[in-house]
Amino acid sequence: MTAHRSHFPPEFVWGTATASFQIEGATDADGRGPSIWDAFARVPGAIADGATGEPADDHYRRFRDDVALMADLGVTAYRFSVAWPRIQPDGTGPTNAAGMAFYRELSETLLAHGITPWATLYHWDLPQSLEDRDGWLERDTAQRFGEYAGLVADGLGDVVDHWITLNEPWCSSFLGYGSGVHAPGRQVGARSAQAAHHLLLGHGLGVQALRAARPRATVGLTLNLYSVQPASQSPADLDAARRIDGLSNRFFLEPVLTGAYPQDVLADLGQTRWFEEVSADTAVIAAPLDFLGINYYSRHVVADPPLGATVLGGPAGPAYPGSETVQMVDTGAPRTFMGWPIHPEGMVDVLQMAHALRPDLPLYITENGSAYPDVVVDGAVEDEDRRRYLEQHVLACSAALQQGLPLRGYFAWSLMDNFEWAWGYSRRFGLVHVDYDTQQRTVKRSGRWFASFLGGSLADAASPATPLAPTTEQE
Ligand code: FCB
Repeated sequence: MTAHRSHFPPEFVWGTATASFQIEGATDADGRGPSIWDAFARVPGAIADGATGEPADDHYRRFRDDVALMADLGVTAYRFSVAWPRIQPDGTGPTNAAGMAFYRELSETLLAHGITPWATLYHWDLPQSLEDRDGWLERDTAQRFGEYAGLVADGLGDVVDHWITLNEPWCSSFLGYGSGVHAPGRQVGARSAQAAHHLLLGHGLGVQALRAARPRATVGLTLNLYSVQPASQSPADLDAARRIDGLSNRFFLEPVLTGAYPQDVLADLGQTRWFEEVSADTAVIAAPLDFLGINYYSRHVVADPPLGATVLGGPAGPAYPGSETVQMVDTGAPRTFMGWPIHPEGMVDVLQMAHALRPDLPLYITENGSAYPDVVVDGAVEDEDRRRYLEQHVLACSAALQQGLPLRGYFAWSLMDNFEWAWGYSRRFGLVHVDYDTQQRTVKRSGRWFASFLGGSLADAASPATPLAPTTEQE
């Protein structure tokens, strides 16, 4: 089975995605303030190899070349994020004009190359001044986010039509304030669910601000969703699946799409009373959206842990609240270099999950991709594993469309190798290889395959992609 672009509607959006802190570098340039990731990077042992946001991909200075590269790949859209601390160095107050000018120039350059800008307002780089006031555990941070959203809409609304408020509030709350493996590295237990609520409230206020400033804007939210299966049909394993599906998926999908938190998850977390007190906020959180963005990477097969077992390892490392009650089962499926099982069919599952709650809502895959330990040999990166992963998931998009799901686009994570959070520069997800010493970009085989698929000028006609066998997973 081979993926062909002609199997998709002509208006289907094909893009690549990145995030500000992961690619920009220039963390002190033009009045940018410190973010929680700058601070976290200084904590000994927090990030692999002591890596920081410098130089990353030096994209702040090289963005013109990077946009030209995207045009050569043949993408029609680019999802980037705006760094809040470039716009409001302290998280409050007026716009820092130099910061806004960068995103304006980036957007104009994209438009000049026929690439539609998709701007995410928050991809995890909270201004450190707001974290000093308790970050997302503090309700006021949601108000601050709403104001920031309004400033960006005013500053870029004439060049950007497509907006995503937050990227993966699950990570910001449960990894940032629960397990502590992400910035700001706090471990407040089940109160991390309150951080999630403030993020979602911020999302709702951000939607209001975007709509007030740009009534015709296309506005959505991006969630990371997981396909979840129980290891067996035993009541205990079924309940483990309920718990982790609740924490990973329903806890975010349901308030946003249906206006109510799942009561079973609140009970599991011991948070029922606190959430009752803020229940009026769900009217703001459930503001109508124009689309939902879904980041899909992997699935969980879960079991109830045997009595007395020590279960470390939620989906992304150490336990976060609730995850310690679930055991992730190794089915023997192939994994990426992140250790994430490869399961393209799960992408259809998560699309169905969202579609079941809101059948009228357009859906986009706003991230999907894989890490592999790439090497440059004779100026080339033969990343057949990543190419295969990409094609398998593009085929899953096609399967979703055949099932009538309202999928409207796909963004590959990532345009280029970058700072992979707690993994520093040790995990590469790019379609384009980056040499961090020289900043040299090398389009990988996966990138050339994507260009062939899209009809871009970087297509590698000399070595056509190996067709995939119809069965995409061996277990
Ligand atoms: C997602 C993040 C993105 C990137 C990928 C691999 O959770 O949104 O920034 O790190 O994982």
